[in-house]
Amino acid sequence: MKKYNVTIVGGGSTWTPGLLKGICNRQNTFPIKKLVMYDINAERQAVIGEFAKVLFKEEYPEIEFSYTNDKKEAFTEDMDFVFCQIRTGGFEMREKDEKIPLSMGIIGQETCGPGGFAYGMRSIRDMVQLIEDVRAVNKNAWILNYTNPAAIVAVALQEIFPDDKRILNICDQPENLLRSYGKLLDMHERDFDPVYFGLNHFGWFTHLYDPEGNDLLPVLRQKILDGGFRPADAEQRDKSWLETYAMVEQMVRDFPDFLPNTYLQYYLYPDKVLDKLNPEFTRTNEVQAGREKRVFEDCIKVAKQGTARGSNVVHNDAHGEFILIVAESIAHNKGDNFIVILKNNGIISNLPDDAMVEVAASITSNGPRPYAVGEIPTFYKGLIESQYAYEKLTVEAYLEGSYAKALQALTLNRTVVSAEKAREVLDALIEANKGYWPKLK
Ligand code: G6P
Ligand code: MN
Repeated sequence: MKKYNVTIVGGGSTWTPGLLKGICNRQNTFPIKKLVMYDINAERQAVIGEFAKVLFKEEYPEIEFSYTNDKKEAFTEDMDFVFCQIRTGGFEMREKDEKIPLSMGIIGQETCGPGGFAYGMRSIRDMVQLIEDVRAVNKNAWILNYTNPAAIVAVALQEIFPDDKRILNICDQPENLLRSYGKLLDMHERDFDPVYFGLNHFGWFTHLYDPEGNDLLPVLRQKILDGGFRPADAEQRDKSWLETYAMVEQMVRDFPDFLPNTYLQYYLYPDKVLDKLNPEFTRTNEVQAGREKRVFEDCIKVAKQGTARGSNVVHNDAHGEFILIVAESIAHNKGDNFIVILKNNGIISNLPDDAMVEVAASITSNGPRPYAVGEIPTFYKGLIESQYAYEKLTVEAYLEGSYAKALQALTLNRTVVSAEKAREVLDALIEANKGYWPKLK
């Protein structure tokens, strides 16, 4: 079987150990010849890199592994896949994305509302640079991108690299939801054939077929209404994620047609969610006290002890697993079905062609072959159209350096609504993002 060369960009991420464990687990189905991890933060990269050396020595000795903070070493002609998971500005800026809006009584979140807007304006520049760097040496490698806010990044990359058919933007949240449905229905997530529509972090499952073709969605809906909803890996989740999943029950009660992505809570119940968010201790602080601390401490310990056995940083999370099974489907032309982000082009017939929608597609070596969704009902169409207009205006604000479009974008966002508040939060975010954003005039 052919062996693949993979570069991970953002190798110093807290998500990397899970991904590395996934690579070890899949050595028979997705064998890797050479793996390079790259991060601009040399210190974080070294901790995860030294952990990886120990893990591979024990579980994957044939792999040629290295880590670097030099992009010239990271991007090579012989790469088959580039996995991206970068966070421009790190947790320091994520914390501001959350806290600045919250200080004004607006939702402060990584990818939704003004926080997502701010993060989007930062991510675009680095993602464009990254793609240019990769393509300067390698025209063919598949670029599988997790970088958030994926919705905005996808619109920007589509606009800037319209002819590059080997950039695929993905998100693990639909996969997390499938795993959670699987737990409730006692099924494996890969045995579902789902129908899903929307934008990234803004979508709904309409059907959930089992291998015999039965739609399990009505059964699942009733189970959620009767017993609530929890993530499949609830034991590993922090309090805020458990609260987020629990909100699905209310969303299903109010809008029972379809099963919502958890991120819709911020748009459908901003007041209620706002009440639960603590402006002094946001998700960033929770991650820093939890996953971040755990992963880095454990990786240091593994490197010191010289064994990764018994380490719990390497549990099989959807984030690590999903990108690998997508890559495997491309590598072997398997045509497996995954929910990914694509240019609409009529998939959802009553939405604009240029929207970057999140839908199910068969993933082949020639790329995604999406399944038609058809027309969606007015309520969902209305929500998506306004959210898409926000995304598009955000990208235009970035590309044109336009303050007016930034203000329009934030005013359109359902977590903001008031133009006065939009201006207030925009001005504060401009100040906080100096050096990251283009100048807005
Ligand atoms: C899910 C989403 C990602 C997001 C992550 C945040 O996996 O799909 O887009 O980055 O959650 O997780 P965190 O635990 O860092 O808040
Ligand atoms: Mn996501």
